[in-house]
Amino acid sequence: MIKIAIDKLAKSFGDDDRRTVALHDFDLSIDDGEFVCIVGPSGCGKTTVLRIVAGLETPTSGTVTIAPGSATGHPQNAMVFQEHGLFPWMTVVDNVAYSLEMRGIGKRERREQVMPFLEKIGLSRFHKHYPRDLSGGMRQRVSLARAFVADPEILLMDEPFAALDAQNKLILQEELLRIWEGSAKTVLFITHGIDEAIALGDRIVVMTAQPGRIKEIVPIDFPRPRSVAELRADPRFGALELSIWRMLEDEVRTARRQEEAAS
Ligand SMILES: Nc1ncnc2c1ncn2[C@@H]1O[C@H](COP(=O)(O)OP(=O)(O)OP(=O)(O)O)[C@@H](O)[C@H]1O
Ligand SMILES: [Mg+2]
Repeated sequence: MIKIAIDKLAKSFGDDDRRTVALHDFDLSIDDGEFVCIVGPSGCGKTTVLRIVAGLETPTSGTVTIAPGSATGHPQNAMVFQEHGLFPWMTVVDNVAYSLEMRGIGKRERREQVMPFLEKIGLSRFHKHYPRDLSGGMRQRVSLARAFVADPEILLMDEPFAALDAQNKLILQEELLRIWEGSAKTVLFITHGIDEAIALGDRIVVMTAQPGRIKEIVPIDFPRPRSVAELRADPRFGALELSIWRMLEDEVRTARRQEEAAS
C-alpha cells in the first residue's frame, strides 16, 4: 500500500527577478512501512520536499497525498528538523514529552514514558537541563527522542544525525533501526551520508542539483534486521557507496558552480 504519493511536485521561491526553482517534476511513491533515504547536493531541495510533505510549505504545483492512518489519535507525522527545533524555554524532559502533554497526559506519566527514551539517547542525567546548556549533538539527540515519543506513523527526518560524533551516530542509527523494525512506521530520511543512506534505507533517492529532480532510485537489498557496523564491513557496501557517489558527483560539482555564480 502506498503511504505517501508525491506527484509532479514543483516549488519556486521569490518573484520573477530573483526566482529560485527549488524543485521541478518530483515524483515519488513511498510504501507503508518503507524506509526511504534522500541524498543530493546542498541546495537541491531536500528540505523543501520534506517541508511540503509535512504540510509546512505549499507546493507551487503538484500534490502530496498521504494515506489515512489508523485512528489512534496520534499525530500522523513528526518532523525531526535539520536544526533540531527544540523549545528553548523547556527542559529536556519537557521537550521530549511535548506530544504527550498535547494529548493531555499528566506530568508523572509523561516522565515515566519519557525517561526510558532519555536513557536510550544517553541523556537521562540531563533531563532537567535547558537546550542552551547542551552541545549541538546532544540537542539533536533530544530532538530525536521527541519524535520517537510522539510515535507518529510517518517520521520525516532532515539530517537528524548530522551534528553527532561518529560513535554516537552509529549508536543512534542502530537505535533508529531497532525502533523502526518494531513498528510500522514509514520513514523519509534526508542525509548527506551515502553510507548512512545505504545502512538504513530500503531505497535511496538520488537528486540532481537545482532545480531538484530525481536522478535515480537505488534499491538497497541488504537483509534485515541490519547491523550498521557489520554492514560497513561487507565488500558490497563499499561497491554500492562508490556507485552512488558516481551518480552524485556531477550534481555536487554543478551545485558548487551554481553557488559560485550566485555569490
Ligand atoms: N523560504 C525560502 N525562501 C527562498 N528560497 C528558499 C526558501 N527555502 C529554500 N529556498 C531555496 O531553495 C533551494 C532548496 O533549498 P533546500 O533547503 O530545500 O535545500 P537542501 O537540499 O535541503 O540543502 P541542504 O543540503 O544544504 O540542507 C535553495 O536554493 C534555497 O536557497
Ligand atoms: Mg536541507
